[in-house]
Amino acid sequence: MFYLIPPAGFPITSGDILKIMIARLHPTASLNDFSTIIKKHARVKYCFFVNSGRCAQTLILTALKALSKTDKNEVIIPAYTCYSVPASVARAGLKIRIVDIDPHTLDYNYALLKDIDFTKVLAVNASNLFGLVSNWTELRVIAQKHRLYLIDDAAQTLGSFYNREPSGKMGDAGFYSLDRGKNLTTFSGGILMTDNDSLEKQLSIEHDRLKMPGLLFEAGVMTKIIIYGLMLRPRLYWLPQALPFLGLGQTVYDENFPMTRLSRIQLCAGKVLYRKVAAYNEIRTENARRLAEALSRNGRFYIPGYTTDNCPTYLRLPILAENKTARNLAVKELRKNKISTSVMYPGIIRNIPGLDSRLSSAEKNFPGASSVVDRLFTLPVHPYVTKRDIDIMISCLNV
Ligand SMILES: Cc1ncc(COP(=O)(O)O)c(C=O)c1O
Repeated sequence: MFYLIPPAGFPITSGDILKIMIARLHPTASLNDFSTIIKKHARVKYCFFVNSGRCAQTLILTALKALSKTDKNEVIIPAYTCYSVPASVARAGLKIRIVDIDPHTLDYNYALLKDIDFTKVLAVNASNLFGLVSNWTELRVIAQKHRLYLIDDAAQTLGSFYNREPSGKMGDAGFYSLDRGKNLTTFSGGILMTDNDSLEKQLSIEHDRLKMPGLLFEAGVMTKIIIYGLMLRPRLYWLPQALPFLGLGQTVYDENFPMTRLSRIQLCAGKVLYRKVAAYNEIRTENARRLAEALSRNGRFYIPGYTTDNCPTYLRLPILAENKTARNLAVKELRKNKISTSVMYPGIIRNIPGLDSRLSSAEKNFPGASSVVDRLFTLPVHPYVTKRDIDIMISCLNV
């Protein structure tokens, strides 16, 4: 009875907790080690650690705006993405320019993107959802033609590659999120990266302005990491899920997020937990492959990004049902069988209440994104998912 598979997660053991505490005895060494790890992983020259992906994205945009020395003030983002993306653009004081997506790839609809008026566009934010990487060949052609900056929003794609290049590295600057349910978590956090020397100087100025959280914050976040590690277990996950005030899985739009550096204890956690990323990503890919193989035969579901010869490093497995009713039925059936799925973002970016003054165009129609809002759900593929859970998911969806 007391069993519920979480929709996403990064298992943390008591051994990990001990190692994080030991690493905290040498915070400077941990910062240097984590920095070396990330630079090696993303093959970049520079990286900075902050308290969220939103903060990383805001710093990148602010730095790009300062570097550009033009009056360009629009940032292109996908019509379907995490609400933090437009919140960061607004926080950087820039205008949001929405472009529709292709439901088959969950990436931009490049036929549309190519044709827009780029006069005021400063930068394009890559889509990169659920472990799927945007089409960088297309993005680079467009950026070169119209002199745009590219941001590799790799919040959900740490460990994914595009033509052997690590996600996060592409573009003028990139960032990872270290939030719960990401490929690497420190409970909350973000990393920004660049290879560009002038951008690094600007980012360094922005980063130096941020405060380092104190010991009280560290104690609080370490407690949360311990509770997260415990409660993610399927035998316990029903408990936080049953507490509505925790707001698990809720998407809110908030421009007033705090901006600080990443705390010392989280730098230690990042360094310790990174060691597990490759193995966890392999498990995610294998779980996704087994699910996708079985479900793609069924014909009623479409799995963006999956082909029989290529299974991406999915963070969660995105599935498109035929319509909203079929999606809702599938979610209900899975939930009845103790599998927590997610229908992800509740609406298209255009429909976020109160966003009008932040938008650069009055366009209302984004059919690709709207169809995804209605039809999408995600299946868990994290390391707590067992073979039995996979069989249950397949049988729930094959009825
Ligand atoms: C695509 C995308 N970009 C940016 C962010 C922001 O990251 P964070 O939640 O760490 O602020 C997220 C968060 O999930 C995301 O999914």
